Amino acid sequence: MTHTHTHAFDLATAADLRRGPDIAAVLDHLVADATATAATSIGYPGAVDLDHTAVMARLGHRLWNNIGDPSDPGGVAHTRVLEQAVIAWVAELVGMPAEDRWGYVTTGGTEGNLSALHAAYRRWPTARIYYSTAAHYSIRKIVDMLATYKVVVRAHPDGQMDYDHLAEQVRKRRRWPAIVVATAGTTMTEAVDDTDRIHAILTEYSMVGHVHVDAALSGIPLALDGALRLDDTSGIGSVAISGHKFFGVPTPCGVVLVRDSVRNPARQPIAYTAATDTTITGSRCGLAAALLWHAIALHGREGHRWRVAEARRVAGYAVERLRAAGWPARRWPHALTVVLPTPPEAVRKKWLLATDGPVSHIICMPGITTGQVDALAADLAAAAIPRPRAR
Ligand SMILES: Cc1ncc(COP(=O)(O)O)c(C=O)c1O
Repeated sequence: MTHTHTHAFDLATAADLRRGPDIAAVLDHLVADATATAATSIGYPGAVDLDHTAVMARLGHRLWNNIGDPSDPGGVAHTRVLEQAVIAWVAELVGMPAEDRWGYVTTGGTEGNLSALHAAYRRWPTARIYYSTAAHYSIRKIVDMLATYKVVVRAHPDGQMDYDHLAEQVRKRRRWPAIVVATAGTTMTEAVDDTDRIHAILTEYSMVGHVHVDAALSGIPLALDGALRLDDTSGIGSVAISGHKFFGVPTPCGVVLVRDSVRNPARQPIAYTAATDTTITGSRCGLAAALLWHAIALHGREGHRWRVAEARRVAGYAVERLRAAGWPARRWPHALTVVLPTPPEAVRKKWLLATDGPVSHIICMPGITTGQVDALAADLAAAAIPRPRAR
């Protein structure tokens, strides 16, 4: 952001105090800045192929507050009927039994993780919470907020949990219930922890407890593949998914699903809102629920399957192109994330990649084009240190 921009946003400059800021110009600045960097922003997972303006145009002028539980009737203007439809669609997609499901539209993956782990911890108050070193930073924060005992399990360099280490840690703590957080799409490499193996380890040691899946990134793509299931045999008690990632909703949001039987039956009715206090936040964004509903309804299951396939095709193309440019890129077969050695600063200044030390990634979310990949590959080829030819 340039100095001029900062000045334009400053509400307290002398001239502004007399005339007021040029509101349209300030907003236009923001839009222009975001538009200028959009083509090179390929490190963070927001789909850019869906047009949400139909919802923004119709609903954007008033407050839609889904305060309370999605099943609560009445109250201020709300979109709970759409929220219920979103929850039902995702629950059906992951095969969650109709008689044992509950969920709501959250502010994002983090709130979903908090809501699910809070429910699991109330159900198992002496539990140890296990999560891997590749888990999202929200998990550590939530464990801290809940003040639970934590057990950090090693992850392999590719991002997947080390199941032998999990087994070793569980074996030592057999007398306490286990809450295990699996990740479906780790933040850096999009690795997916194998919940069947986790379930098998818990069964082997006759553990009681809960398995939660943080599926912020890959939840919808994997569920569309049939690779993320919360049916009775899965051993999974809850899942959290981000809404602004695969569905590209233009406000942070998400979905959490928890088996109803896990939740504490004592729920507090709140007199003044005539609502039931089952969610983490009180007032909740009804616009987000409407945007999610719209994104789902626009394409349906088949359309979204096509979006996943197309994005994977671009990700596969990116691996080939980056390798051809002298950059050893790799990806999991299911992944939209392409991992590469961190490029020099000149490349990172132009391209908004996500970087963690020696490793960076791009994410080929729906809407990222092969043209963008070509442009990145060209910059990487120019930056590649030529390797000596093998004799
Ligand atoms: C694995 C994982 N979990 C949780 C989150 C948090 O999601 P949100 O930013 O929607 O709270 C992310 C976001 O990148 C993530 O990658």
